[in-house]
Parts: sequence; structure tokens; C-alpha cells
Amino acid sequence: MTSTAPITTSDLTAGAPVHTPAGSGEWWRDAVIYQVYPRSFADGNGDGTGDLPGVTAKLDHLAQLGVDAVWLSPFYRSPQKDAGYDVADYRDIDPLFGTLADFDEMLAGAHERGLKVIVDLVPNHSSDQHAWFQEALAAAPGSAERERYMFRDGRGPAGDQAPNNWQSIFGGPAWTRLAPREDDGPLGPQWYLHLFDSTQPDLNWDNPEVRAEFEDVLRFWLDRGVDGFRVDVAHGMIKAAGLPDWDGQVAMVEGTVEEGATDPAAPEDGSTGAGNRGPMFDQEGVHDIYRAWHKVLAEYDGDRCLVAEAWVEPLSRLARYVRPDEMHQAFNFSFLTAPWDAATVRTVVNASLSTMEAVGAPTTWVLSNHDVVRHASRFGLDEIGGRQLNGIGATDPQPDAALGLRRARAATLLMLGLPGSAYLYQGEELGLPDHTALPDDVRQDPSFFRTNGTEPGRDGCRVPLPWVGGAPGNGFGPTGRTWLPQPDVYAELAADQQYGVKGSTYEMYRAALGLRRSENLGAGALAWVDSLADHPDVVALRVADVVVVANLGATPFTLPAGAQVLVASGELDEDSGELPSDTTVWLRA
Ligand code: NOJ
Repeated sequence: MTSTAPITTSDLTAGAPVHTPAGSGEWWRDAVIYQVYPRSFADGNGDGTGDLPGVTAKLDHLAQLGVDAVWLSPFYRSPQKDAGYDVADYRDIDPLFGTLADFDEMLAGAHERGLKVIVDLVPNHSSDQHAWFQEALAAAPGSAERERYMFRDGRGPAGDQAPNNWQSIFGGPAWTRLAPREDDGPLGPQWYLHLFDSTQPDLNWDNPEVRAEFEDVLRFWLDRGVDGFRVDVAHGMIKAAGLPDWDGQVAMVEGTVEEGATDPAAPEDGSTGAGNRGPMFDQEGVHDIYRAWHKVLAEYDGDRCLVAEAWVEPLSRLARYVRPDEMHQAFNFSFLTAPWDAATVRTVVNASLSTMEAVGAPTTWVLSNHDVVRHASRFGLDEIGGRQLNGIGATDPQPDAALGLRRARAATLLMLGLPGSAYLYQGEELGLPDHTALPDDVRQDPSFFRTNGTEPGRDGCRVPLPWVGGAPGNGFGPTGRTWLPQPDVYAELAADQQYGVKGSTYEMYRAALGLRRSENLGAGALAWVDSLADHPDVVALRVADVVVVANLGATPFTLPAGAQVLVASGELDEDSGELPSDTTVWLRA
């Protein structure tokens, strides 16, 4: 039903701010941070995989887009069993991506353009090709070398049962047994823990040597000039004493689900309530690690920051990672997993702001990353309201591309109007969908293999970016090679097809980011528009001098006459003054 009652700009009066932005102006509090997934961003050498020279060559794209910082997923030496989240040497660049000199050049180029650079740190596990793990394999049970990882004897008289019943997040058991050796004791070869792939052994964070090593790694990159670290699996490093059995299920990106929790129904903060209550996650001991790291970063000038990737819920648990002496930010996955529903969005926004404010941290907002189905595809899956996270396969129901893009643009414009810090995933500024019909034989994600294909995995959101529509590989690199095939639609969505084009997704992002900066929205305080506070379909809020109105419902919503439109996620009918379904607008009212 179209809302017919005429409303006026006075109906957009906002109430009192629901939070007070804290802090002393550190850059990360209100930054927009763009995630570069190096293997898929831009290919400099033509081998079909993106690299650091490719990133350097595209820095102008990022500067012109108007983001404040770049976070790069891992580029370290790695056998690439989990796309670089399996690190063999934390202090070197994998030849696939270039050299340390290439890194320095990229960093300098970013800094010249005023862009901060955050690198990924993967401390929960290393690669099995890391020198430490190789030494552990060569050494005897009980040796100092084995103590760097989580080796245990097996259960049963012959030690042939895994030390506990934990499952890998990528599927299958979380333990792998070593090959037999002559010097094995009565319990035979030991087992090692890997919460992810068997090529990603978990490090033993109860061992001071491991802690010292990572503090040194932090310093290595801080000395090179990085502005911060995104910390992988920040909730996982400490395991409950005795490694007790756990009958819950581990889910790919939402962590563990309590046994019997059929509907991980939203708690009061709007989160799914699903996440991470098992003995492998969110243990008290992780916080000591971050307190120590906080001190390391504080030795350096320029507000360096730590960003937690911690799939923990509810938000009050997440806030514990960003207490004043710990990390600085945490990804807000409650926002990412929220369905396309006005009441839930309002609840998550309120809870995010108040929960983080309570510890003096800024909240963050994120809709896409390299582990989840892009929001342009997720929101095209109407019946599940955008919660499908773990990949879409060729035989799965396919998203409605137009609906997905429309909602994705509306969701982004809503997100960029919120105070705090926002994360963008490469290619979302082009409105890219996932490749939702990748053939199985090109898939590389270990979760696809470890679940025997039950989970399609995350390759669909990792497809190389299109820069030049219609060129070989859509201009991903000089040879046209791409390590994953691109869907046909990438030709028309390529960057060059959108630069300067009125109404393009790229130009919408650029306009919104420009206004966000000039209006200082990131540092503003949010107040809800009183008259629409309980509207079933409309989310309406004011930050600084901008009113953001998002229509998440199926019918148009009549905007007040006389309001000046600053930017809109879709076309508005100026005659009727209606905000169409699945559209967001920023108004000066
Ligand atoms: C989270 C990362 O984002 C994901 O890509 C990776 O597979 C796991 N952590 C394991 O490192």
C-alpha cells in the first residue's frame, strides 16, 4: 500500500541522539576502509592472479572513490591452501604477489594519496609449511618444537581416536594424525589440532615463545609503516583448558551453534544469536593477547589500529574485544547478517552504537567480504532475506540479480550514512554479484572439498575484478587470464563502464563517500526520525545535517515535499515524490 498521507519536512524531525561519539579524533574511528583481496584485485604481471604491483596501479581508483584506508588480505609466503590464510613466513611476500620492495612501493603510493594501510595478521594458525611446523614434525613428542602447536596423544588404548570430537570449521574432523614413525610410543603417532584445513595447524598461544614471535611480527610490519592489522580469527587463539568435547556444530562463518538450537533466534540486539560458544572460541584468555598488542602499537606514532575478525555474538561479547586497552575496532557481523527488514536493522544499529559506546569504541559496519556471498547476490535471495552466507552453487536457487543490486545499493547508502567506521569489499562499488554458477572443477576453497561439495564455498565472491568491460578478462591484467572465470555480467559492470556515468553504482558510492566526508557523518551522532521510529518498512535517521531514509518495504513511501535530495540509491519519481521500494535517499531537510 502506498502511504498517501502527505508528510512534510517537519515530520523528519529527529529525537535525541542515541549515542555519543567518543574518542579523540583517531583516524580509524570514522574511516571508510576498503578491503583489497590481492589475488582478485588487479593483476600486474599477467599470470591471472592479482598482485601488489596490480594494487599499486589501481590506487588512484581507490583515492578517487573516496575511501580513507585499505585493508589487504594476506600476501605473505604461503602454499595458498586457504588463499593465503595459511602463512608459511609472516615476514615475507609470496612470489605470487611480488616482493617486499613491491609492498613498500604500494605502501608509499597509498600514503602519498592519503590512504592508510592495514595488513592481515593470521595468528590462530600457520601453514603446515611454516618452518616451525616442519621442525615440530621432525621433533619428538613433548619437545619444545611440538609445544608451539597443539599436539596431543590420541584417545583409546592405541591412541587411534582423535583427542576430542571437535570438527573443523571447513568440515571434517579438527584433528589430523601424524604418519607413524619408528620412535612412536605405545600410543602411536600424535595428532595435531586444526580448526580450519589440515594444512593450517593451530598455534599454541599458551606458549610464551608464540606470543613473543607475534609481537615481533607486529613490529616488523609497523616498522615498515603499516597503519594497522586486521586480526584473523581473533576469538580463536585460546582454547578451553583440557580441550573438552563439544557437541555443538561449527558453522562456516557464524561459528558454533549450541546443540538443539534449531532457531538461533535473535537476542535483544538483533544478532542471529548463533555464534561461538564452544570451548575453541571466545575464551577469556584471548584478551590478554590483545592487551599486550595494544601496548606494542602504542609504541608507534600515528594511531595504529587493531581490527578484530571475531564471529562472536551477542554484540556485548564482541565489545569485550574493543575495550580501551585491547583492540580498536571489530567487524560488526550482526549488521552483515541482518535480514532486509526495517525493525531488525534499527535494532542492530541501536545495539551496535550503544554496545560499542559503552566501551568507548566506534562501531563498524560491513555488508560484504571475501568469506560471504556478496550483498548484491545475498539480497537477491528473497525468501531467506539475505542471510545466505556460505556460497551459492550452480544447482542452488539463483538470486534475482536486479532485486539484489537494488537492495544492495539501498543497503550501502544506508550503511554509509551511519556514524562510525565502514568496511567495503572490493568490487561492491561496482555492484558486483557473486559468480553463483561456478563449475566445481574451478573451485579452490578448502571448505568445498572438506564438505564434499555440500558447501559451495567462498570462491563465488572472490572472482577477479573487471576493470575494462569487454577486454580479455575484462581488463583484470595484461594477458586476460583470471584465476577464476568471471560471470558474463562483469563486462557491463566493469569499472570503465561506470566512471562518470550518472546513476552508476560507482558514482553512487563516490557521491556518498564525498558527502560522508564533507558532512562529517562518520563522527556524527545518530538520532531516529521520531515520526517513523516504528514504521514497519522505513528506516529514517538523522546524522549531522543529513537525513537518511531507507524504504525496505514492497511499496513506495511518500517523501516530504521540499526536502533536497543529496544522493539516492535508485531513481526517484520527482513528480510523485515517492521513495520507491528498496531504495535509500539522503536528504537535506
Ligand atoms: C577468516 C578468514 O577471513 C578466512 O578467509 C579464512 O579462511 C579463515 N579465517 C581461516 O584463516
